[in-house]
Amino acid sequence: MTTLRLADITFAYGDRVILEHLSLTVADGEFLVVLGASGGGKTTLLRLIAGLAAPTTGQIFFADEEVRAPSPQRGIVFQDYALFPWYSLRDNVALAVAKSEPRLSRRERRERAAEYLRAVGLGDAAAKYPHELSGGMRQRGALARTLALGSPLLLLDEPFGALDPHNRARLQNLLLEIWRAATPRRTVIFVTHDIDEALLLGDRIIALGSNPGRIIGEIKIDAPRPRSREDIITAENFRSYRAAIQACYCRRDDDEAVDGDGGGI
Ligand SMILES: Nc1ncnc2c1ncn2[C@@H]1O[C@H](COP(=O)(O)OP(=O)(O)O)[C@@H](O)[C@H]1O
Ligand SMILES: [Mg+2]
Repeated sequence: MTTLRLADITFAYGDRVILEHLSLTVADGEFLVVLGASGGGKTTLLRLIAGLAAPTTGQIFFADEEVRAPSPQRGIVFQDYALFPWYSLRDNVALAVAKSEPRLSRRERRERAAEYLRAVGLGDAAAKYPHELSGGMRQRGALARTLALGSPLLLLDEPFGALDPHNRARLQNLLLEIWRAATPRRTVIFVTHDIDEALLLGDRIIALGSNPGRIIGEIKIDAPRPRSREDIITAENFRSYRAAIQACYCRRDDDEAVDGDGGGI
């Protein structure tokens, strides 16, 4: 069964076209990375899939139903962490548990919340408030909160973009562990502008061009997991994946910058 299908969607703000003729099918359990330069419409795309905005033309289907509004079926983590500042970490996550499992008692919700927090390495910080946490901890909290929604589809919008390299690597590993351990696997759509991150995470990478946002390439990453960060820089197969991605951007008429070294585009 196919989880998510975008059928020729276009999105415009007034007469400014942001996304154009975008068609895409994402399989159940797939880890899809959407790669694109900033301003290219990546966040817009996730907002459409989440049901936070409607396409100007075209349709989006999830599990054979048209997406018309937000749903806990499609959990989203934004670039800027989405935690309620007036609740403790535990209560932030317990609220999400309450949405996915409303029949649990208050105590059971808090216990379940503590489990999610332990899974992201925040077991000891459950009583803390968001302002008492570092950026990396807040981002892990936001991930725990979205995982607790139990969504079969996770929409992650540059979730690790604000983190230092060490925390970023930790959270990438954590996300992969959580994704690989679950049965059935959740479908993930992960947005980034970082080629290395895309190569580390994705089963498939969609290259999004900008002005307007269109799919300009698609690369299937046929490499076993777990993938080593060193291989991503040096191994021959990853070098050719990287070249294929860069070629998508170089083929374009406009001069979108592609930066191979930093892994950014
Ligand atoms: N509310 C809005 N009204 C008009 N234009 C917008 C609005 N939100 C975003 N945009 C424009 O849409 C384009 C795509 O934005 P976005 O989806 O956030 O890109 P990305 O996430 O790839 O950086 C940008 O040029 C941005 O300026
Ligand atoms: Mg964005």
